[in-house]
Amino acid sequence: MVEVLVTGGAGFIGSNFVHHALDAHPDWRVTTLDKLTYAGRRENLQDLDANSRHRFVHGDIADPAVAAPLVRAAEIVVHFAAETHVDRSLLSAGEFIRTDVHGTFVLLDAAREAPRLRCFVQISTDEVYGSVPEGASRETDELRPRNPYAASKAGADRLAYSYWASYRVPVVITRASNNYGPRQYPEKIVPLFITNAIDDQPLPLYGDGLNVRDWLHVDDHCRALDLLIARGRPGETYNIGGGNAVTNLELTRRILDRLDRPASLIRPVADRPGHDRRYSLDTAKLRALGWEPRTDFETGLSATVAWYANNESWWRPIRKDSEAYRAYYARQYTRPG
Ligand code: NAD
Ligand code: TYD
Repeated sequence: MVEVLVTGGAGFIGSNFVHHALDAHPDWRVTTLDKLTYAGRRENLQDLDANSRHRFVHGDIADPAVAAPLVRAAEIVVHFAAETHVDRSLLSAGEFIRTDVHGTFVLLDAAREAPRLRCFVQISTDEVYGSVPEGASRETDELRPRNPYAASKAGADRLAYSYWASYRVPVVITRASNNYGPRQYPEKIVPLFITNAIDDQPLPLYGDGLNVRDWLHVDDHCRALDLLIARGRPGETYNIGGGNAVTNLELTRRILDRLDRPASLIRPVADRPGHDRRYSLDTAKLRALGWEPRTDFETGLSATVAWYANNESWWRPIRKDSEAYRAYYARQYTRPG
């Protein structure tokens, strides 16, 4: 059996990847290490409790006593665990530095003494490039992160590279664009706007709504990671982009259309500080390995809206019963305009 460690596997992309990996690789045994922060949901992996090829470990990547033995036993590490929400990083950045930078350091340091390790995937993000007014970011472009989340991820991204350059830890760095799909915590724009619209609540659109993001279905992301585990070159970085660039306003309209809700639900609110105007990725390097996204955006968005409509039992307890969620929402969305 191939021993695989997935950090942050109880979160959005991580839980999709764990399911994908167990389905695609009957010879993989997957250990998920997750701290279960507000964004980590044990229920995202509950259906795997009876699967003898999956084990859940509740713990912190920044705690070497827990994390190091797991890394040292692994052949493949896929490191998703992070604080991930830009708006939260703007309210308070400490946990982003602690988990995204220091936690990554703990894993990498353990990886120096992992005798069977053949691939350590550092999940980075397109946000490390900063705002891209025109053209598309290539892997060799300068990093200009502009918010604390993006900067913490850039720190981890380069730290991972340094462990390849200095110690030959077999690091592969991936920079994906905005993901969408099932099980995304309802604070990012897609699940927040879908669940607000279902409840006939206003959709708080930042600034003029014309910022552009490139949407990648989480399944296409998982397939790209699978390919890079098999064929990515250590020390190299790969962009992963969906090729679906739309403004936030257009995205919002498409969500409202699908739920048959009126445009009057759109509520322009104060802009995010330092709001990156546009992200765009050149994905030629990954495509040269044979990957292309399979999920058409219109179809993927419809399926995602349908997933939230059909799985209220997943998101309603977060929105209704979680005091932490309501406190965050009130703090974030009652700022002066
Ligand atoms: P998420 O917020 O849904 O999940 C993060 C997971 O990490 C949670 O399960 C959480 O409990 C866990 N975690 C946080 N701190 C931890 C710690 N100290 N120790 C152990 N576990 C911890 O995030 P996501 O959207 O699934 O993102 C996963 C990764 O992909 C992140 O590294 C993120 O930067 C990157 N990424 C995300 C996107 C996107 O659009 N969501 C795009 C590009 C890259
Ligand atoms: P988000 O989902 O937070 O992802 P990221 O900041 O990582 O791109 O935001 C996506 C876009 O949606 C971004 O341009 C900010 C915008 N946005 C809003 O307009 N309103 C919101 O309430 C949120 C959460 C995001």
